[in-house]
Amino acid sequence: QPPNPQMGESSVLRRADCRAKGGAPGFKVAILGAAGGIGQPLAMLMKMNPLVSVLHLYDVVNSPGVTADLSHMDTGAVVRGFLGQPQLESALTGMDLVIIPAGVPRKPGMTRDDLFNINAGIVKTLCEGVAKCCPNAIVNLISNPVNSTVPIATEVFKKAGTYDPKRLLGVTTLDVVRANTFVAEVLGLDPREVNVPVVGGHSGVTILPLLSQVKPPCSFTPEETEYLTNRIQNGGTEVVEAKAGAGSATLSMAYAAVKFADACLRGLKGDAGIVECAFVASQVTELPFFATKVRLGRTGAEEVYQLGPLNEYERVGLEKAKKELAGSIQKGIAFIKK
Ligand code: NAI
Repeated sequence: QPPNPQMGESSVLRRADCRAKGGAPGFKVAILGAAGGIGQPLAMLMKMNPLVSVLHLYDVVNSPGVTADLSHMDTGAVVRGFLGQPQLESALTGMDLVIIPAGVPRKPGMTRDDLFNINAGIVKTLCEGVAKCCPNAIVNLISNPVNSTVPIATEVFKKAGTYDPKRLLGVTTLDVVRANTFVAEVLGLDPREVNVPVVGGHSGVTILPLLSQVKPPCSFTPEETEYLTNRIQNGGTEVVEAKAGAGSATLSMAYAAVKFADACLRGLKGDAGIVECAFVASQVTELPFFATKVRLGRTGAEEVYQLGPLNEYERVGLEKAKKELAGSIQKGIAFIKK
């Protein structure tokens, strides 16, 4: 608590009000699961983002502490904390962007699918809140298994009558971030110069890096292709094993989540040519959801790009990915319909 909480809040309101009047491009962002391994560094990075004017931090534990800590940072965003279900609606009201990393992470030996039973219920509850309090917000869904939680969120929004496929994005940016890093290592390049499209989904063989479409243009031997594809698909497991029971990727994920959230905010602001990969409602394949490059604009994912030309290795990978994805999508839909 600040020494005089009321004074703290009124000066906070003055700042937020001032920004709004000055026409500064400030967006209101909520993080649900903000006290977690991903949530905390994600909250810190969003507090540093000049496009954010108000940052709401919601969790079922520890959000007051994280909020007090971050509120001392001398950056523009006003930060407010919300604790527990009774405060969910206040956390969400008026938000432009809602980022959801709430839920349990993997331990060694677990697949992302093993998280389904716990995280499906958490995502359902949080999305019901979004539908009620900020139905026009863009949602960045991080909670695993993303291949199933995005279909769950879709069904919740459809039930509430608020579904807009452009506004619901499953975050797969960490797969792209890893792909850029590992490919740069093999090519001896700076990872910032490398761009690898990663399509499909966010789990095992559904993570399909398109190494034939890497920028800058390059080629790989069959051994390099095999090594890179395996490493990108199993990057998450590499971290889970190294952390030995203490969770999954949190710091690189927070970095990836902010990269993606920042792209969404720049799109909302009206910047042109913002393209990122994401797991969205899609007609690119016969499946109802698929990750591909999307163009982000004022209303969310305004354009979903086709896969582009694939080589034989990628065509085989695509068939495997689609087979597994179909089951995960169905599982998500069935969870709400049952
Ligand atoms: P964590 O356990 O450190 O943090 C999760 C937070 O969610 C905790 O603070 C917890 O109190 C909170 N939480 C639990 N139930 C909640 C509820 N009903 N409402 C609000 N908050 C709630 O886990 P971590 O490492 O931050 O991972 C979070 C999720 O992100 C996991 O599902 C994990 O699998 C997923 N993940 C996704 C990635 C992706 O690329 N999309 C990459 C890495 C992790």
